[in-house]
Amino acid sequence: MADLPAGTQQAIDYSQHIPNNVDLSNDRALQRALERWQPAFLNWWDETGPANTANLEVYLRTAISVDRDGWANFGYVRMPEYRWGIFLTPRDEHRKIHFGDRKDEPAWQDVPGEYRSTLRRIIVTQGDTEPASVEQQRLLGATCPSLYDLRNLFQVNVEEGRHLWAMVYLLHKHFGRDGREEAEALLQRRSGDPNNPRILTAFNEKTSNWLAYYMFTFFTDRDGKFQLAALAESAFDPLARTTKFMLTEEAHHMFVGESGVARVLQRSCEIMREHNLTDPSQVRAQGVIDLETLQRFVNFHYSVTLDLFGSEVSSNAASYYTGGLKGRYGETNITDNHSLGTDFYTIQEIENGAVANRQVPALTALNARLRDDYTREIQAGVDRWNRIPERFGIPFQMMLPHVGFHRKIGSFAGQYVSPEGRLLSKEDWERQSASWLPSDNDHEFVGSLMGRVIEPGKFANWIAPPVRGINNQPIEFEYVRFN
Ligand SMILES: [Fe+2]
Ligand SMILES: [Fe+2]
Repeated sequence: MADLPAGTQQAIDYSQHIPNNVDLSNDRALQRALERWQPAFLNWWDETGPANTANLEVYLRTAISVDRDGWANFGYVRMPEYRWGIFLTPRDEHRKIHFGDRKDEPAWQDVPGEYRSTLRRIIVTQGDTEPASVEQQRLLGATCPSLYDLRNLFQVNVEEGRHLWAMVYLLHKHFGRDGREEAEALLQRRSGDPNNPRILTAFNEKTSNWLAYYMFTFFTDRDGKFQLAALAESAFDPLARTTKFMLTEEAHHMFVGESGVARVLQRSCEIMREHNLTDPSQVRAQGVIDLETLQRFVNFHYSVTLDLFGSEVSSNAASYYTGGLKGRYGETNITDNHSLGTDFYTIQEIENGAVANRQVPALTALNARLRDDYTREIQAGVDRWNRIPERFGIPFQMMLPHVGFHRKIGSFAGQYVSPEGRLLSKEDWERQSASWLPSDNDHEFVGSLMGRVIEPGKFANWIAPPVRGINNQPIEFEYVRFN
């Protein structure tokens, strides 16, 4: 790696076998343990990471410091040589716990015995999503719509790999032998493997085409953002510091998703305007994705991602909060007493055959609250998408389905709820759900559009070029070199 800036407190030491800013060389036992894990990680990457990429040179960003500005260095990297490392935001010596029963006590630098197994479970569950998404995206490179998109896919992949490192560091440093075993198991589970699947259902779904990938990075990576943000409030300071830095990387993943879907929408609208089309089959005949199919993908990805927030009412969520393990989104900036002792929160559930509101103690409703915060941000993104058909004078607006639609976890599990929030019979659901969720035919059609475009500056017919390139490079820049 060339041209690294002079060392500051935040700088990352790249002379080490495992780049880090946690002074790893002064903790020999930990360093040795992680150096033993490293080849296993590289094997995992080889076996399940982006297929057939060992010789590509990719214009990637690498973290060189954890400063707010200018942390990234851009340059060509062969992916197996990417410098995965351990980067935490700097420690604030005076940091205090700022919510829950232990509010105002000093933040923990090590794990209190009573929270050991709970924190380990939280870290393992978060950590498991990171390699899972790499596995889900393994084959996408073969059908990339452009070099620009291919590069972005690989950037997301290497950073999800680094997020795994972030969690594995915590497991190795703070959880002893149990932690080392969990770190190994993280490399053994496989997305979609019936015998040893990833922990959360959404991470066992296939990401089989680029539309699904953009939807995933918009909807599901944003769930990641909200989970990480809640953990960035944690009393366990090393967890807070590592998730804070992960959040800076996550922003790019969500950008890939939001701009990806926007470009698909843009291209479809261009073609619809140009040929004066409204009928989805005529739109498809032009080799672009009809807006109805986009809506069905939105319905699917939004609903499976809502399941990741867990049950609306949860005593675990309450004890994570009172214990100081996991805060609310933006906890630090919320102006209340940070205890939620007697507050209430409104959740939705089915009552007497219809969707109804119920007031529950706010402490038990933290999953619902985090999910609602998430939905507000998602809605803002959908509103931005909706300006595109509007600009073209096309009367079509994408809608988020009702929170009870197509749910497997929480108060709507086992219920049949329409996108508008009407409770249906099983028969009604079965009759109509094909028009609400992507069908085999939709997948086949979208799949049929996926071809490989790798000429610099060229884009597949079904997607518009981006507004600008990466790191101020032109759009026709050679983002990936094939040797
Ligand atoms: Fe991640
Ligand atoms: Fe991500």
